[in-house]
Amino acid sequence: MQKIVVVGSLNMDIVIETPHMPKRGETISGKNINRVSGGKGANQAYALGKLGGDVTMIGAVGKDAAGDALLHNLRSVNVDVSGIRQIENETTGQAFITVDDDGDNSIIIIAGTNGLVTKELIDEKADIIKGGDIIIMQFEIPLDIVEYVKEMAVREGKTVIVDPAPAIPGLPEHFWNGIDYIKPNETELAILTEMNMKTREDLIKGARVMIDKGVKNVIVTLGKEGCLLVSRNKEEFYGPYQVKAVDTTAAGDSFTAAFALALSQGKPYGEAIMLGQKVSSVAVTRKGAQTSIPTMQEVQTIWKE
Ligand code: RIB
Repeated sequence: MQKIVVVGSLNMDIVIETPHMPKRGETISGKNINRVSGGKGANQAYALGKLGGDVTMIGAVGKDAAGDALLHNLRSVNVDVSGIRQIENETTGQAFITVDDDGDNSIIIIAGTNGLVTKELIDEKADIIKGGDIIIMQFEIPLDIVEYVKEMAVREGKTVIVDPAPAIPGLPEHFWNGIDYIKPNETELAILTEMNMKTREDLIKGARVMIDKGVKNVIVTLGKEGCLLVSRNKEEFYGPYQVKAVDTTAAGDSFTAAFALALSQGKPYGEAIMLGQKVSSVAVTRKGAQTSIPTMQEVQTIWKE
């Protein structure tokens, strides 16, 4: 099995369940409030560990209760946390999440120590990146660091997977060049390309824009509609695994993790996409970020082969 390195964010999620999202200027009552380990990077690392992958995480937390809890949770599923720096007198990243009765969410993040992932930290942990086979990143740490790690990973011949969330428009071509896989959802693809995504043709066109910028493969996750893979010579749609969602938080993270896990086990990309969909479809039936991630046995029981 190949080694996977996640370079990215760790957040303590403050989650409020509410019947519906508050409108602008509206005050509403929430049903309850919970603290759950999260952060796109940490969710991916946690899912990889829980599903049985060989995973190390690089990132930063504060020397505070949230940082301790996040490290503890990752260790509990055998994630190697030797790449995570705990920084004195700084606050661990936080995410304020509202989840409505349809399971949809809205998220505000406060970067905290995620904003303190520096080139100096990456250089200190460079051996972890060089020792890995698959490098996964997201956009909750500074983007110049994402590009710095990507350049290092491409130079070293690694497989690079980028989950471009939260999406940012107008990134230059050199940023994308050499990335093996990006995994936007349709909203993120619209933001990245500054195009409207109304039809399948729009999605394919948008994915092709990213291919022209130097990305080798684009996987667009479409929620209830399944997902789309576009690369230079192909376009393939994959049907969904239908479930009743209660909380979509970490759906994308669990997809990315399961996809990378399957690649690390030498499975073809099509099988990797199917595993991504199976795992994320289970995650959305459960509440929270890391609390929603299933084991491989649970996935196999639910989606019997
Ligand atoms: O992708 C879900 C994650 O986004 C949450 O866990 C939250 O921390 C935000 O980073």
